[in-house]
Amino acid sequence: MGCKPAADGNGAGRHQRPGPGPADAKTHPASHGARRRMAVPGGAHNRPAPSGRQRRPAQSKIPNPKSQISAPPSFSAPSALPVPPQLATLRAWLAFAIDAYARAGLALGQIAADAHDEALYLLLHTLGWPLDSDPAVLDRPLDPAQRAALRAVLRRRVAGRVPAAYITREAWLGGLRFYVDERVLIPRSYFLEIIPALAAGAAGDTLTAGGGTPAMPAPEKIRRIADVCTGSGCLAILLAKHFPKAAVDAIDLSPGALEVARLNVAAHRLARRVTLHRSDVFDTVPPARYDVILSNPPYEPSRVCDALPEEFRKEPRLALDGGRDGLDIIGKLLRQSAARLAPDGIVLIEVGGLRRAMDRAFAALAPRWLRTGDGSDCVCLIHARRLAAHAGAGGL
Ligand SMILES: C[S@@+](CC[C@H](N)C(=O)[O-])C[C@H]1O[C@@H](n2cnc3c(N)ncnc32)[C@H](O)[C@@H]1O
Repeated sequence: MGCKPAADGNGAGRHQRPGPGPADAKTHPASHGARRRMAVPGGAHNRPAPSGRQRRPAQSKIPNPKSQISAPPSFSAPSALPVPPQLATLRAWLAFAIDAYARAGLALGQIAADAHDEALYLLLHTLGWPLDSDPAVLDRPLDPAQRAALRAVLRRRVAGRVPAAYITREAWLGGLRFYVDERVLIPRSYFLEIIPALAAGAAGDTLTAGGGTPAMPAPEKIRRIADVCTGSGCLAILLAKHFPKAAVDAIDLSPGALEVARLNVAAHRLARRVTLHRSDVFDTVPPARYDVILSNPPYEPSRVCDALPEEFRKEPRLALDGGRDGLDIIGKLLRQSAARLAPDGIVLIEVGGLRRAMDRAFAALAPRWLRTGDGSDCVCLIHARRLAAHAGAGGL
């Protein structure tokens, strides 16, 4: 996501969130389970999966939202996708799907970095076969009902350009499964890498990409955390799992996103430690001092959002559009954070391609850039003392 430009030909700009995201490439089960075990040709992954993320997590009991909440908006019926009748096995369907993705110029990067991984995931999911199936399943004959189901799902993805995660209603981040639908951004945040490092007590010089060593709060002292712009709640949930003694306030402006977050918080049995707030940044959140304020906010400049590929335009505009220069929500968050941080607290913000813009606009706050596995280093850390000094001097 974010730091990387979209794949060529997707028509999106430099700041674009929808590059192949770390979440997709690293934690999506189809990216390492089935794909690796099956001797199927496919594009190479450019992001090695970090250790410990190979295992497919146990299925969480994500409830069917249709029985509980208002239905998300549905897309218009896709036009036909001609499917040759002789596709008898998963192997044949996979080859057909990869070809159809290429011919249709589908945009990738929401759940997987290449067509092979995404299509394999989608097909296995549709068949109800384990994502880490033995390669032998590739040649298992499919019955007419199975073939009809695969045809229908590919029609939605290829002709309807519906993002795969909105079809399957799930996304994976940090080994955890989350319910998703059109009310939330499909999880693919670099915080997937940062949160475990923070929880493991990684020192500032390990985490930062150069230019100083920020003081990091000791993990055991992190008791109050805010996840601003929580969307599906994925980062709030990851935080709660990695900091078992912490209370997490998860904040979002979108009532629809908060409904999705509520489902995920309940599915992960974290309702006692993750509190959801509907608020424009901190406007209506009860006063509290946080050890960590973390945010993956909307940060795309509006003109970039206007030019996004169709799949990404099916994600909520509110989740992507950071205003004219992308800095609207980030600026508000920084202005409000000074009064919300504990004395040794930190703010962590993922900013996509806005690193230089951040360094210019907020030079006085001396943002430190944290290392990410792909070298994009697009998550910054700002210390409470910097914010307090700057707020006191009338800045921001
Ligand atoms: C990029 S998404 C991030 C979602 C999630 N944290 C993740 O990493 O997948 C940004 C989220 O910010 C929310 N948002 C946009 N403007 C906001 C605001 N002014 N205050 C609070 N949340 C806002 C959107 O509704 C969206 O859910």
